[in-house]
Amino acid sequence: LIKACIFDLDGVLVDTAVYHYMAWKRLALELGFDFTQEQNEGLKGISRMQSLEILLAEGGLVFDEAAKLKLADKKNRWYCEYIEKMTADEILPGAASLLKELKSNGIKTALGSASKNAETILRNTNLLSQFDAIVDGNNITKAKPDPQVFLLAASQLKVKPEECVVFEDARAGIAAAVKAGMHSVGIGNPAWLNQADIVVPALKDISIDTLNNLFHTKGT
Ligand code: BG6
Ligand code: MG
Repeated sequence: LIKACIFDLDGVLVDTAVYHYMAWKRLALELGFDFTQEQNEGLKGISRMQSLEILLAEGGLVFDEAAKLKLADKKNRWYCEYIEKMTADEILPGAASLLKELKSNGIKTALGSASKNAETILRNTNLLSQFDAIVDGNNITKAKPDPQVFLLAASQLKVKPEECVVFEDARAGIAAAVKAGMHSVGIGNPAWLNQADIVVPALKDISIDTLNNLFHTKGT
């Protein structure tokens, strides 16, 4: 029986991947190499420092820890400039209505994001009040595919892992949901997200009825 839905943020509720990409590309260009949209796909769901490691490897550059922290900080300052201007218009289709539908059907909702900027984004898009629990990059020590973020969300909601459905656009996020012992809905490419129970193009393709049929949210 499903009692809670846990949502990833970037790429599921809002399309911030484009802002992450703009900021990473700006950093790469400043360091003297290009960074393509395709390369950016591999950064989805990955923590800030791990993303930097991947980017620097693509550029064939090596820096010490202090320099890497400065680079990550620089990227984050640019990223924060972009997300500061976000509004509710940037909520992805179907996200706001699904959150409301879940609430009115007594299903709890949580955020389970790797981002340390999650609260800013939720505030700017007016989504902050839609969640019963918020777990983000500031509350966790282990990044996806580790299940920590989702297990912490479930414990805050006081539900069992098998009572949760995770919504994720990243491979690492689906892997984390599977490791947590939760159900999962992939948002995006089915070939890429093949570990998910079901994959849909966007949240607008999911309703409470779909969830009932798939995972039995009602006691039948
Ligand atoms: C994830 C994004 O949600 O958060 C990643 O998919 C990002 O691309 C990660 O690197 C960390 O985000 P932030 O905002 O803390 O740099
Ligand atoms: Mg994501």
